[in-house]
Amino acid sequence: MRPRWLLIPVLLSLAGIAAGMAWVDWSKGGAGSGLYSREWQPDPVQGYWDPERFYQPAKTVEGVYPAAECIACHEALTPGIVADWRDSRHSKPANRAPVACPDCHGADHQKLRMPTPQVCGECHGVQKEAFNSEKHYGFPSHVLAMERATDSKHFVDKPKGETTACVQCHSVATKCDSCHTRHRFDAAEARRPEACTTCHSGPPHPDDETYYASAHGKRYLADAQKTDWSKPLKKGNYLTPTCAYCHMRNGQHVVADKSIWQFGLRQVNPNNAENKVKRERWVEVCMDCHDEEFSRRQLTDMDRERALAWQGLNRTERLLRELRSEKVLYPAAGQRPPYPTDWMDRMFPKERIGFFEGQASSFYNVSPIERDYFEMWYFANLGSYKAAAHGAPQLVQQGHAALAQAEKSIAAEAAQLRDKARTPRPDPKALWLGGEYTTHNKEHN
Ligand code: HEC
Ligand code: HEC
Ligand code: HEC
Ligand code: HEC
Ligand code: HEC
Ligand code: HEC
Ligand code: HEC
Ligand code: HEC
Repeated sequence: MRPRWLLIPVLLSLAGIAAGMAWVDWSKGGAGSGLYSREWQPDPVQGYWDPERFYQPAKTVEGVYPAAECIACHEALTPGIVADWRDSRHSKPANRAPVACPDCHGADHQKLRMPTPQVCGECHGVQKEAFNSEKHYGFPSHVLAMERATDSKHFVDKPKGETTACVQCHSVATKCDSCHTRHRFDAAEARRPEACTTCHSGPPHPDDETYYASAHGKRYLADAQKTDWSKPLKKGNYLTPTCAYCHMRNGQHVVADKSIWQFGLRQVNPNNAENKVKRERWVEVCMDCHDEEFSRRQLTDMDRERALAWQGLNRTERLLRELRSEKVLYPAAGQRPPYPTDWMDRMFPKERIGFFEGQASSFYNVSPIERDYFEMWYFANLGSYKAAAHGAPQLVQQGHAALAQAEKSIAAEAAQLRDKARTPRPDPKALWLGGEYTTHNKEHN
């Protein structure tokens, strides 16, 4: 007979799970959105980036108008918008009445809406369904991009002036005008790389920089003027691949079905069953224009670049873990402000190292050597990944030179930390835990 007390841990863990779920629900119930919704208030501009949750129509104009009147008044008020709309397929579709202002925004000016993927999906079900299907693939993906940003600790911790930029890029999830901009909604525009590079550029994701440095980017630049962009993205229609050609196979509204390396942030096994399927999808893309063997070798070469980068990153992560267990990091966790939204950090201060211990906490409120590792991981490493993925050999070399340099200087810093730890050092708590800088940030974030 099993003693009855054995049930206690089972009941306790069931209660724990229920409490955890209730806590997540509660934390999503605030004025903002996401896991930290109770810790931030949306600015009015948020209504444009995430209209379903936050858009509030202005009450300044009263009346219910037919399309002709919207156009007449806005022709004077916002001539660019009307000109773009007139230029678009929506103003002159093949076999129906024009899709005009009220179809997307509504006709009652005090109850205007900003159209969400749901609204576009009323007429473009195929694209909306494909877009939503990205949820199967998890992160990263376009459809989950908004929650990915607002569920990040650094989204709530940083000043509003900066986090507005996060939601501008991550609004690729919450409205459909990221790649074919309003009000032209032109498919030809979306086929070109410029449609992606407003968001896909800069140090953590230099897709822009690496594509234009590749043979593909050079050919795109040479041929762009004489290319007919009105053709759909299909084999035979294009000589040079663009971002959408490769990532949105046959014009499908899915970017998440092929990528293996998950943004370059962590080491993955490119040869597991799921990734083998994804790799075949890539080979198929390349084979629109290249030989099969050539395509496979190029992609395997990217895996080799990744393996090499991770050797150095793993060595450096190991070194940081050693320094942590020797207690020589300075200032250490507990001597510096805890990561703001992290109550675990407040109660049990611990330096976070690498992807699995919590990304955001490993890049803010850290000691210099930890920050240097962050830059090695996020900038040098993510840069060389994108260079290898996109075929930019010079940037692969540059990325690996930066990785090697970072590893060397982090090793030198480690030697200094160990050396200095031999003599007692002042406790920096007083300097970091209170004072002007820390208090200022507490109030303004
Ligand atoms: C009599 C002139 C007039 C007519 C008619 C009119 N609008 Fe407007 N519209 C305005 C003005 C003025 C604003 C700016 C309101 C403000 O910012 O307070 C505006 C703003 C807007 C905005 C932007 C709202 C925002 O929050 O940014 C949209 C969208 C819009 N109108 C759509 C329409 C549609 C759709 C119709 C037809 C159903 C229409 N308008 C008819 C004058 C008009
Ligand atoms: C096919 C759908 C569609 C049609 C038709 C349409 N719009 Fe829009 N409009 C949008 C989208 C999408 C946005 C951006 C929404 C957001 O930022 O959340 C937008 C935003 C706006 C804005 C506010 C943003 C800005 O750039 O100032 C105004 C004003 C506006 N539309 C006016 C009009 C007028 C006037 C017409 C008719 C000539 C019209 N729209 C027709 C989809 C449409
Ligand atoms: C009321 C129905 C309706 C709504 C709502 C609507 N569209 Fe359309 N859309 C159409 C029609 C009709 C066409 C033209 C098809 C044709 O000409 O055969 C079109 C064409 C397009 C095209 C292709 C243009 C090209 O260059 O070939 C794009 C892109 C597009 N819509 C995007 C959007 C987006 C984004 C939204 C939401 C902001 C939206 N549409 C909302 C009906 C709609
Ligand atoms: C408005 C900004 C924006 C635009 C424009 C944009 N993206 Fe993205 N894209 C994002 C964001 C943000 C993410 C990261 C989402 C996340 O955090 O999960 C992303 C992720 C991706 C991914 C990673 C998906 C994966 O599973 O690995 C690919 C590939 C991608 N985008 C391709 C494109 C292409 C191709 C275009 C142009 C046709 C484009 N994007 C246009 C913002 C944008
Ligand atoms: C210039 C546009 C842009 C801005 C600004 C931006 N992001 Fe992103 N973000 C992206 C793109 C593009 C990706 C996808 C990168 C990839 O797959 O290569 C991404 C990926 C991410 C990811 C997923 C990768 C990860 O770390 O797991 C998170 C989380 C994220 N962003 C959060 C934020 C937050 C929070 C901010 C503001 C502090 C922000 N982003 C600002 C474009 C942007
Ligand atoms: C990441 C960029 C991107 C985003 C986000 C995006 N589109 Fe597109 N869209 C494209 C590209 C690229 C094409 C051209 C596809 C082709 O050549 O077949 C396109 C074409 C279209 C077309 C025309 C299709 C045709 O066969 O003519 C429609 C309609 C459309 N998109 C609707 C939407 C809707 C609805 C959403 C939001 C759910 C959306 N798009 C979001 C990039 C995007
Ligand atoms: C020749 C095809 C091709 C072109 C063109 C191309 N890419 Fe890529 N891209 C790839 C391959 C291959 C990968 C590696 C994906 C993997 O991990 O398997 C990749 C990776 C990415 C990723 C990271 C995905 C992840 O989760 O690891 C993003 C984001 C991305 N590309 C965006 C872009 C953008 C934006 C452009 C245009 C400026 C572009 N790509 C042009 C083939 C292409
Ligand atoms: C739409 C056609 C097209 C697609 C798809 C395409 N490429 Fe290319 N690629 C080209 C063209 C054109 C060139 C430049 C001429 C040449 O070198 O063959 C090129 C050049 C290259 C080069 C440089 C070759 C050299 O000798 O320096 C590499 C590497 C490459 N592609 C890899 C890939 C990979 C990997 C994929 C799939 C992820 C891919 N390409 C998909 C058309 C394409």
